[in-house]
Amino acid sequence: MYTLKTKIDPRSREFLNNREAFMKLLDEVKRLEREAIKGGSDLAIQKHKERGKLLVRERINLLLDVNTPFLELSPLAANGLYDNGFPSAGIVTGIGQIHGRETMIIANDATVKGGTYMQYTIKKHLRAQEIAMENRLPCVYIVDSGGAFLPEQDTVFPDRDHFGRFFYNQARMSAMGIAQIAIVMGSCTAGGAYVPAMSDETIIVKDQGTIFLGGPPLVKAATGEEVTAEELGGAHVHTAISGVADHFAENETHAIAICRNIFETLRPATKQLLELQKPEKPLYDPKELYGIAPVDLRKLVDPREIIMRIVDGSRFQEFKARYATTVVTGFAYLMGYPVGIIANFGVLFSESALKVTHFIELCTSRNIPLIFLQNITGFMVGKDVERGGIAKDGAKMVHAVSNASVPKFTVIFGGSFGAGNYGMAGRAFGPRLLLMWPNAKISVMGGEQAANVLVTVKQDQYAEKGKTMPESERQELYNTILAKYEREGAALYSTARLWDDGIIDPADTRKILAMGIAASLNQPFPPQQYGVFRM
Ligand code: COA
Repeated sequence: MYTLKTKIDPRSREFLNNREAFMKLLDEVKRLEREAIKGGSDLAIQKHKERGKLLVRERINLLLDVNTPFLELSPLAANGLYDNGFPSAGIVTGIGQIHGRETMIIANDATVKGGTYMQYTIKKHLRAQEIAMENRLPCVYIVDSGGAFLPEQDTVFPDRDHFGRFFYNQARMSAMGIAQIAIVMGSCTAGGAYVPAMSDETIIVKDQGTIFLGGPPLVKAATGEEVTAEELGGAHVHTAISGVADHFAENETHAIAICRNIFETLRPATKQLLELQKPEKPLYDPKELYGIAPVDLRKLVDPREIIMRIVDGSRFQEFKARYATTVVTGFAYLMGYPVGIIANFGVLFSESALKVTHFIELCTSRNIPLIFLQNITGFMVGKDVERGGIAKDGAKMVHAVSNASVPKFTVIFGGSFGAGNYGMAGRAFGPRLLLMWPNAKISVMGGEQAANVLVTVKQDQYAEKGKTMPESERQELYNTILAKYEREGAALYSTARLWDDGIIDPADTRKILAMGIAASLNQPFPPQQYGVFRM
């Protein structure tokens, strides 16, 4: 493989200005993350601690192997929503290691509205289960939750991807041989009771964990029976009488130790084998990405400048370097894993779509995971390209991306607009992880384009009536749409709504992708199979 050579001068004014603008975005993301990971209000935290309970991230730290990383997903979920009343959407999810085994952790934060589930808590829980299922990761549920957030039952209860889907997923994963373990550290009320009940093995903490379909107030209202929570569904009841739980833990640390012991008994993972190399740092400092990340999306960035700051030894075996140059494709190693990289360097044409399709076929036939580096305004438009059949060539690319039998990972390092988002493995195309840089923007089209389209539509309506659109109205419509797209296109807006798995520091891109690839190897890659490519 060839070693890439930078054309960027890290002392140039352009680089320094970009870095300054980028750092503002990154610092804001980090500040918000620090806030979010504190959890609920000071009062709720105090109450939680006074009950002798550990905070949710402390529990996770104790559960995972010492000195191993935890890849927390979507820590800024629900940021800016619900008056910021649901930090991290009230649930912590992520991939960590237990006895060397990559595991999905799904843990309620009881300091946030009693660990109850509103729509984004549900979405985050389901996304974590989806990742676990795709990568065959055992799941540990640390349960401490009042169940559904009752004021919003219409957004959490009835639909397919609502509360009930948790249990369906647990049953399906259990059937697939993906271990489901619950540690009950607090309430599991009503629907929540099924998380431990649906698990393969369940641990419950003395004087702390409770499992019941209806709590004491409901029982009293329904039958008149007066009963304490402990009598109704405490650790003794469920481990000695009902058999709903299997292991009685004296306290939280004991429960965690039992959970770790269970992992020693799990069926070993069947791993996908890859031809690994010794990991090597990139030649160029990944922190230089701060000066390169396109804060101003009108500036075209050569993605090789990004690739050389992510991959081992900055080495890259480029494929079809002279053909369809607005998309860069090639092979590299990342922390020792072989990867195929597809990165944008401008708008997509017919030939770019064909080049990507060909490259994906190479990767799937060689069992090489794919990384999409997105900075894309979309496919080219106009009479010539339509006549050239860009729609059918774009469709080939979308076919290849959709059916690629190797794991895909998507990093949005700039813009992600229109069909470009789809062709480059956007959320709908099942990347194992979708990560945003703080400067990234995502929307159906750029704000200026959307504003121009809507102004033109309005102007045409005026023209049909033989009138002219007043300039003040044109300006107002244009500015309103532009401002709306600016706000809704931001990475923070996306991550709050779980359109991605988190905003990351560009300097961590390499490490996070490597963790994603390591996790993906728990699911051996199926043979490649494509549908009908329209010729
Ligand atoms: N829906 C909406 N909000 C809920 C809630 C629910 N199911 N359960 C608790 N909350 C809210 C409380 O109103 C409170 O909000 P606030 O901080 O704005 O005042 C916050 O969560 C904490 O509740 P609190 O009762 O003070 O905390 P706790 O730690 O002593 O008890 C629970 C937590 C979950 C055990 C307890 O609140 C409870 O039993 N809730 C009802 C659970 C239930 O019946 N769920 C049915 C689900 S189908």
